[in-house]
Amino acid sequence: MQPSLLKNNRREFLKKLGLTSIPFILPGAAFSKTVVHENIKSDRKVNFEYDGIFFSPQEYIEKLKFINDSNPIEGDIYGNGGATLALEQKFAELTGKEKAIYLPTGTMANQLAIKLLSGEKTKVIVPENSHIYRDEADAAQSVHSKRLVPVRNNKAYFDASDLDQTINELSRNEVFKSGIGTVVVENPVRRADGTAVPLNTIKGISEYCKEKGYRMHLDAARVHFAEAFYGISVKEYASHFDTVYISLYKYLNAAGGAILCGDASLIDEVTHQIKIHGGTMYQTWNNTSMALHYLDGITARFNKMADATQVIVGQLNALEGVEVQSVPNGTNIYQMRLVSSIDGNLLQEYLETNHQISIRPPNEKGVIRLAFNESILFQSVDEIVKAFQNAISA
Ligand SMILES: Cc1ncc(COP(=O)(O)O)c(C=O)c1O
Repeated sequence: MQPSLLKNNRREFLKKLGLTSIPFILPGAAFSKTVVHENIKSDRKVNFEYDGIFFSPQEYIEKLKFINDSNPIEGDIYGNGGATLALEQKFAELTGKEKAIYLPTGTMANQLAIKLLSGEKTKVIVPENSHIYRDEADAAQSVHSKRLVPVRNNKAYFDASDLDQTINELSRNEVFKSGIGTVVVENPVRRADGTAVPLNTIKGISEYCKEKGYRMHLDAARVHFAEAFYGISVKEYASHFDTVYISLYKYLNAAGGAILCGDASLIDEVTHQIKIHGGTMYQTWNNTSMALHYLDGITARFNKMADATQVIVGQLNALEGVEVQSVPNGTNIYQMRLVSSIDGNLLQEYLETNHQISIRPPNEKGVIRLAFNESILFQSVDEIVKAFQNAISA
């Protein structure tokens, strides 16, 4: 197997070989156990439930202690200095933007970005299935005087022509026109099982927006999964947008928090807006030192995780009565279907009790949603696949 091919586009490569849904030929032993941070009990636990490691309070405290013992954590006051400043600087560098700022939530990051980018213009175009449109309690309309206009195309993401159609329709049907300020893209798409928006589609949208003078915001809450599964850097994704938000808790394992990156002039305004909306926090090092720790070396670890994912999926598919599939342009989310003779609830119980592996229970259709994350590196591929095999035969 050529690592460079895998890195450039793992899925394309596997698709060409026809290996996405048939037993994988690469021996699991090639991905021998890779313990990332072997210092606390949770470092053996593999979870297929979340995008990140997910610590209990006890484990979180132990992990912070481990981080602090190896390199004393520096505190911040109101986000100034210490781990928070270090994280902001690291994210600015990572995204290629002038400046980055910590915010208490991704919701606030998204809302303040579209508010400030849009200025006096009242319309913001959003994906119909996006967090901004569906999951932010109408904050844009009720708090920020922005009207969200969804692109309704019944697909996981929209392209430039879908966007053009929405804007033309809007324009045809309104007599008193108020301006369009910002166009939003979410990548990967949470409500489409982690679908990654293809880079060419993003480029098309970006060219269209530049031509029309619209600003662009990227909700990149889980962007490192797109980087790992498609070999496209976070910086490349970010380069097509004015502002980018990345979550600190989805997979960087902090207890909460978000980062917004963009031009220095805009980010400086965000500081004031956070205060206006009651989001300025006295100290945030407890979140930012954790995220900083997991950001270090993330690309190498996530590449390993993406490779191991493909092997595990291939080998699970080789088990009798098991089918594991992902969506087109997927990242880390897979659907596991079992023949009726395998009880998904018993499988869950067996894996948890005997192998420190947690999965979600089957949904109403009997499908188990598997989320691959870096905890899969805490046991070897062979151990994980054998655990499923044992559970099924038991
Ligand atoms: C795609 C996406 N954007 C934004 C958010 C908001 O993050 P927060 O919970 O920090 O407000 C989430 C959280 O679920 C999300 O999945």
